This record gives sequence, structure tokens and C-alpha cells, in this order.
Amino acid sequence: MNEHATRIAVFASGNGSNLQAILDHFDGPAFGVAEVALVVSDKPTAGALDRARARDIPAHVVHHADAPAIERLLDALRIELVVLAGYLKFVPAEVVRAWHGRILNVHPALLPAFGGPGMYGLRVHAAVLAAGARTSGPTVHFVDEQYDHGPVIAQEQVPVLPGDTPQALAARVLEAEHRLYPRVIADVAAGRVRLSSRGEVIGASSPSLSSS
Ligand code: GRF
Repeated sequence: MNEHATRIAVFASGNGSNLQAILDHFDGPAFGVAEVALVVSDKPTAGALDRARARDIPAHVVHHADAPAIERLLDALRIELVVLAGYLKFVPAEVVRAWHGRILNVHPALLPAFGGPGMYGLRVHAAVLAAGARTSGPTVHFVDEQYDHGPVIAQEQVPVLPGDTPQALAARVLEAEHRLYPRVIADVAAGRVRLSSRGEVIGASSPSLSSS
């Protein structure tokens, strides 16, 4: 257990169901491991901002390319780990470089398959179905300067079922995201998983085993 709760900033563009799962995890089984100290969105209407405000967590709208504003917020709130959760924009390269090994993302497919620019939302699941894949599932990875490309930390496989629509598969994958992401964040926050200077993932995230 680290001596203090790691201060996390969550970046979200939409509803914020991943943010909610993260908030619940660190209020519950992983209490004390980490805390969401800031929520940032590129969209003023993002439901994620309302979820933050409901818990008196600082919530800010920032233009996705405004690196100085992003850095100022991360510094002011003494952030130690950046978590992209349903965030649909690029993080400026200078921010990604400064936060190498301290910025995570979740993608709703088994990277490196079905990732990259334009692969978000239902398009991802439509592509999985069109390819005839039998499994899909979320990937949690360290962010590097290419979209959905950084070193993979953990994945959870979910079945693709006969007759699945993109919506049905999306819902099944989203549930798996909500199980996987908070636990991987806790593993990184607690130092059980880290990124080496050479870009290798050190340690293993055992989300199914680790309760915090
Ligand atoms: C979902 O498509 C999810 O798969 C992806 O981002 C989208 C919105 O997530 N990670 P959220 O409900 O805003 O967390």
C-alpha cells in the first residue's frame, strides 16, 4: 500500500461511465490507493463533468490542444497519474512526453487490432463484427504519441455472440472496461505495474486477483 492516495486526473469526453467505475472503486475496495482529484473534458456538455461536480471534484473544460492549460491544471492539482477514460481527442505530444509512464488509456477492443484514428464508439464494434472475430474486449495501455498504440498493460476477453449487434457488443465490452480499468489503475498507482524507460511494462496487472 503506498503511503498516500495517488492523485489521479481523469480525462473524459462523454457520459463518464468509466469515470464512475473508477470513482466507485477508489471509494470502495481500493479506498486509500488513489483518488480522483481532477476531471478534465474537451466538451462542456460531458456527463463526466456532472459526475465530478456531484462529488465536489474540480471539473474543467479545456481545449484538447491547449498543452499549457492542461499542464497548469495537472500541476495545480498535484496530479500524479493521468487516466483517459472515454476521451476522444489526442493529448498534446509535449504532455504525453512529460507524462511518459504516467498516462493510461482504455480502448474498447483487443489492441493492436481494431485501434487507431477513427476507431472509437460503435465503429470499433462494427469492425469487430465485420471481421468475424469470436472475442473482443477492453485493452488498458500506457499512452504514447500514437493513437491507441502504447504498451499494453492488460486486456479482458469477452465473447462475441451470434446475432450480436454493435450496440450489444459495445455494452458487453463496456461492462468489462468497468471491471478492468479501475483495477489496472490501482496496480499502477500502487507501483505494482510501471513502464520502464525503454517502454517495457514491468510487473503484471492481475485484475482478476487484485481486489484493489
Ligand atoms: C465507450 O465507448 C467506451 O468503450 C470508451 O469510451 C466510450 C465512453 O465511455 N472507453 P464513458 O462511458 O464516457 O466512460
